[in-house]
Amino acid sequence: MNFQLTEEQLAVREAAREFAQNELLPGVIERDSEARFPWEQIKKMGELGLMGMMVDPSYNGGGMDTISYAIAMEELSKVDASASVSMSVNNSLVCWGLEKYGTEAQKQKYLTRLATGEVLGAFCLSEPEAGSDATSQRTSAELKGDHYILNGTKNWITNGSSASIYLVIAQTDPSKGHKGISVFIVEKEWEGFIVGKKEDKLGIRGSDTHSLMFNDVKVPVENRIGEEGFGFTFAMETLNGGRIGIAAQALGIAAGAYELSLAYSKERKAFGKPISQHQAIQFKLADMATQIEAARLLVYKAAWLKDQGEDYAHASAMAKLYASEVAMNTTIEAVQIHGGYGYVKEYHVERLMRDAKITQIYEGTSEIQKIVISRGVLK
Ligand code: CAA
Ligand code: FAD
Repeated sequence: MNFQLTEEQLAVREAAREFAQNELLPGVIERDSEARFPWEQIKKMGELGLMGMMVDPSYNGGGMDTISYAIAMEELSKVDASASVSMSVNNSLVCWGLEKYGTEAQKQKYLTRLATGEVLGAFCLSEPEAGSDATSQRTSAELKGDHYILNGTKNWITNGSSASIYLVIAQTDPSKGHKGISVFIVEKEWEGFIVGKKEDKLGIRGSDTHSLMFNDVKVPVENRIGEEGFGFTFAMETLNGGRIGIAAQALGIAAGAYELSLAYSKERKAFGKPISQHQAIQFKLADMATQIEAARLLVYKAAWLKDQGEDYAHASAMAKLYASEVAMNTTIEAVQIHGGYGYVKEYHVERLMRDAKITQIYEGTSEIQKIVISRGVLK
């Protein structure tokens, strides 16, 4: 067992940390308040190679391992989870699936641009009546010669308006249940595709979450990924990797809140000494540090399994389940350690607390992670 990071992984951590401090931190409070998408920052993330980190260099990607990706997600999420969710979706939910299952033509046409961040991707599984119960897809795609006609509504889509390329899951044969679900690449400019309302959210307010409507959108057959009926497996496999990204995001939110709390506790004085000298605060810091370390080990283990080509479905569900709980607990305690200052925007921890909540909901709620894990352990 080797807990040592490689030279490359250490360099990624350094570069991501520097980027987060220099490029994400300035303006993060304003972007959150105004619910403004971090366009400028995402462009720079593309230039740094953060939007297609694991994609093969022959498709313009960074050719890095999943551990490096998790490290970068952690560092960016310490500061700005709205920017990091765009990165997570683009890397794990869009680029990964296209590279693994797309045709050469699809990769040349779409992946090469997604991997550089020149365009952004979105992953469209959830619907108004199909969130956790993802097999209940109502969106339909009907084959008409050389194209499909796509109809339906998707809900809560990250990068909803900022994306140009959308992976859309749709029912092609309802009689076959989840084995009749397929997946398509859809371009934003196509007729009948409407970007719906933007959600006004508790956290990750800089991220653009939208509903999407498809009204008789013509999708060429060559834009289907894999065979008909492959869509649900595609979604589940993609989410197995996506959950590593979100687990790393949760880890970063927790670690960011912890680092701020540690520094603050040494500066803030009460009853004649820094609050870090009061045992109640020391124990909070000890709990935070321990839980964050445990979460980090779960995240790296899941990433390592993926890099080794081993089964990582349950490990990624465990990492997401645990890291998101740690994010929530840690950020609540971080606000407590900051006292009244923690409750105002200037000190960052209230934003991290609001951002933490989503990690227990998207890419499968905590309850769904427990379903995935329990099915694994009972198998
Ligand atoms: N990996 C691979 N395959 C999986 C899988 C996994 N983790 N989970 C299920 N499957 C497969 C099953 O093996 C089964 O395949 P076969 O029939 O070929 O054996 C098929 O999927 C159906 O599985 P179930 O019978 O278990 O289906 P179910 O309806 O009982 O439950 C579920 C499935 C696990 C609950 C699934 O619906 C699920 O994961 N729901 C959560 C959806 C989700 O995570 N959405 C996230 C949207 S994207 C997002 O949120 C992005 C973002 O915010 C940034
Ligand atoms: P429901 O499925 O209605 O769940 C409601 C509650 O019931 C939850 O607590 C849930 O855990 C519980 N529950 C449901 N079924 C069970 C069960 N069998 N056992 C125990 N408890 C259960 N989706 C995308 O496809 N792409 C995206 O890019 C995307 N981005 C998102 C961004 C944001 C900000 C948000 C809020 C959501 C996003 N989603 C996205 C959707 C997200 O994945 C779903 O919200 C999530 O999967 C839960 O689905 P739901 O909201 O329909 O809740």
